[in-house]
Amino acid sequence: MHIQVITLFPEMFSALAHSIPGRAQKKGLLTLSYLNPRDFTTDKQKTVDDKPYGGGPGMVMKFEPLYQAIQTAQETVLSKHCDTPPPQVSYLSPQGRLFNHLAAEQLAQRQHLILIAGRYEGVDQRLLDQVVDEEWSLGDFVLSGGELAAMCLIDAVTRLIEGVLGDAESALNDSFSNTLLDYPHYTRPASVAGHKVPEILLSGDHEAITRWRLKQALGRTWQRRPELLKKRVLTPQEQVLLAEFIDENSE
Ligand SMILES: C[S@@+](CC[C@H](N)C(=O)[O-])C[C@H]1O[C@@H](n2cnc3c(N)ncnc32)[C@H](O)[C@@H]1O
Repeated sequence: MHIQVITLFPEMFSALAHSIPGRAQKKGLLTLSYLNPRDFTTDKQKTVDDKPYGGGPGMVMKFEPLYQAIQTAQETVLSKHCDTPPPQVSYLSPQGRLFNHLAAEQLAQRQHLILIAGRYEGVDQRLLDQVVDEEWSLGDFVLSGGELAAMCLIDAVTRLIEGVLGDAESALNDSFSNTLLDYPHYTRPASVAGHKVPEILLSGDHEAITRWRLKQALGRTWQRRPELLKKRVLTPQEQVLLAEFIDENSE
């Protein structure tokens, strides 16, 4: 996958050189490149923002530098893959569609992404109307800029690109991957200040451990995110496990 990020702060993305996104890049499964709207300005001051029409606080990112950066990003892809449609342009925005696991799975299927990280009060609406295909929000809060949001999106998508995670790190049991939250994890020592690891995990009985983990995943989801369970049709075994969990955990 090739992701091009349009940002005034490309240096912020150095975090992605580490851990799983870093490894994905070393394996050649992910390439990241950055376009700075400042490089697409025509004035001496390299102006990328201006006062809002109608007055009011803050500044707005100008249409033209962003538009030129997007054009360049698209041309870069088309010059290498002339048979593909132009890549979708996504804007990180608190007003966008909520980014979640399903969205990450969908984006992980794409070959190219162009992400725009906004700043100030946001970008000129005409850019969103004319060249942006979709808007993604990280949640109902406002960040100072789209860079952190873009990094979160890139990290979440990268984990789902085939071949990026090794078997041991498989995302299959991660929260949301099967509409359930993950089960609890423990590691050595078996006892910490008198708090013991659940006996079953020391039993070596893999079938019983799988059953226990599924029960915990169902129970946690029921306790913490009951709305997720409504999206899932429970198998008869899952219904039994959840009933057991509820029984064991009710006062
Ligand atoms: C200070 S915010 C602008 C917020 C805008 N005035 C509003 O209220 O909708 C600057 C930039 O941060 C990014 N941003 C802020 N919150 C975000 C969120 N929850 N999800 C994704 N991007 C966000 C967007 O790119 C936005 O253009």
